[in-house]
Amino acid sequence: MTLRVQALSKHYGDTPVFANVSLDVAPGEFVAIVGESGVGKSTLLNCMAGLDHWDSGSVHLDGADLGLLTDDARALLRRDKVGFVFQAFHVLPHLDVAQNVALPLLLLGTPDDARVEAMLESVGLGGLGSRLPQQLSGGQLQRVAIARALVHRPSLLLADEPTGNLDPTTAALVMRALVEQTRLHGASLVLVTHSHAATQQADRVLTLRADGIAAR
Ligand SMILES: Nc1ncnc2c1ncn2[C@@H]1O[C@H](COP(=O)(O)OP(=O)(O)OP(=O)(O)O)[C@@H](O)[C@H]1O
Ligand SMILES: [Mg+2]
Repeated sequence: MTLRVQALSKHYGDTPVFANVSLDVAPGEFVAIVGESGVGKSTLLNCMAGLDHWDSGSVHLDGADLGLLTDDARALLRRDKVGFVFQAFHVLPHLDVAQNVALPLLLLGTPDDARVEAMLESVGLGGLGSRLPQQLSGGQLQRVAIARALVHRPSLLLADEPTGNLDPTTAALVMRALVEQTRLHGASLVLVTHSHAATQQADRVLTLRADGIAAR
């Protein structure tokens, strides 16, 4: 899908977070976003998914102006087309691993156990479907979140430091799964990361600053 962010500005109370952020992501493109801690990367990603509000500017997904949609329409658009890997995972504690990963498919009315298992395999969690989240390591939890974000083959994947808690070997495995799955389905990928290994695979790397975003 196409993602267009135009002159986006956001503040919390009196504190500005970022201003004048504009970027375009083409269908199938992989854009990495880097920037100092606290500069607003997670906030920007949330805005791209319509999960947070902004003060001025606009976000368009496939031409739809997120700011003009109702909450319900935004939720539907997200359900159909967007995958999100949260920095804090947001894995549901009372569901087992397979049920967590299956959630987007259930919401779409298209359950598919085989696809869930294949997704778990691709992030190195094959056979762990019946574990509860509390029985997993931080890195394994992160991979559950990644499998869940990819399972319904979204046309836009927004991933917030998805390799942040992983050792280099597992990080490489997860990056390969992310890039392979998005390329396979022609999905666009916006990845927030501090990892040099991850940015190397991107088509473009952008740096977020308080006053905008620019090519690194
Ligand atoms: N709900 C909130 N209320 C007030 N301020 C907030 C809120 N959420 C985030 N902030 C502030 O907004 C700024 C941007 O936060 P954000 O989480 O987007 O940064 P980040 O670039 O993702 O940082 P990191 O690399 O550490 O994850 C920070 O200064 C943070 O303290
Ligand atoms: Mg963040």
